[in-house]
Amino acid sequence: SKAVTVHTLGALRAAGEKITMLTAYDASFASLMERCGVEILLIGDSLGMVCAGHQSTLPVTVDDIVYHTASVARGAKSAMIVADLPFGAYGTPESAYANAVRAMQAGAHMIKIEGGAWLADTVKFLTDRAVPVCAHLGLTPQSVHQLGGYKVQGKTTESADLLKADALKMQAAGASLLVLEAIPSGLGKEVTDLLSIPTIGIGAGPDCSGQVLVMHDLLGVFPGRKARFVKNFMEGQTSIEAAFSAYVAAVKDGSFPALEHCF
Ligand code: KIV
Ligand code: NA
Repeated sequence: SKAVTVHTLGALRAAGEKITMLTAYDASFASLMERCGVEILLIGDSLGMVCAGHQSTLPVTVDDIVYHTASVARGAKSAMIVADLPFGAYGTPESAYANAVRAMQAGAHMIKIEGGAWLADTVKFLTDRAVPVCAHLGLTPQSVHQLGGYKVQGKTTESADLLKADALKMQAAGASLLVLEAIPSGLGKEVTDLLSIPTIGIGAGPDCSGQVLVMHDLLGVFPGRKARFVKNFMEGQTSIEAAFSAYVAAVKDGSFPALEHCF
């Protein structure tokens, strides 16, 4: 099938068709996800938890991301490939660019970074240099020790207003996609309506332009605590392929996320 580009994502959003994204860490699963219709594959730094068994995403290195991005890129033929820059890899625009180049040379089409206003200069620096950027707001797991745990964000008027301002700053700086994690559904809708770029939600309600899940959560194999926004799509299915297809169908028809997955 045809390559998924930033134009594809814009067209899907404009047509009101939900965008599907999953994390992928290796070639075989990347290939299968793509065949099941997943548009975006994310080499998430969640790999530190679900693949490597760490307690957080903080130990993940750029080398880890580069290795898994190259693996995914060899398995995927048409999906858009987005790679996370890990903790400590984008403290300055220059270091962000150097590490983004490594991820892009491994096969990424876009990089994702966590944070708001403080990253505006970095987003501009990257996009001026042909590195497409996906921003990530709300619950940003690399900030877990600053946030004091994996908690829902944007519940107060002040924090919701700050998140909306951050989203506009990321878009103005050149971001082409925005992941929203663990925020009230109403705020997910407000941010999506406010922006012209697509939003991808994980625990951000049904009104985002698309949805993302961690593959191990979708398959019900992650042994850790299950977040409210997680759904095990293996339930009722007899193959991994059927579970991926069920996820794509549920996002496309709006049945996932349901109320029980939302804040
Ligand atoms: O690392 C990851 O898997 C992510 C998604 C949850 C958005 O950043
Ligand atoms: Na991540």
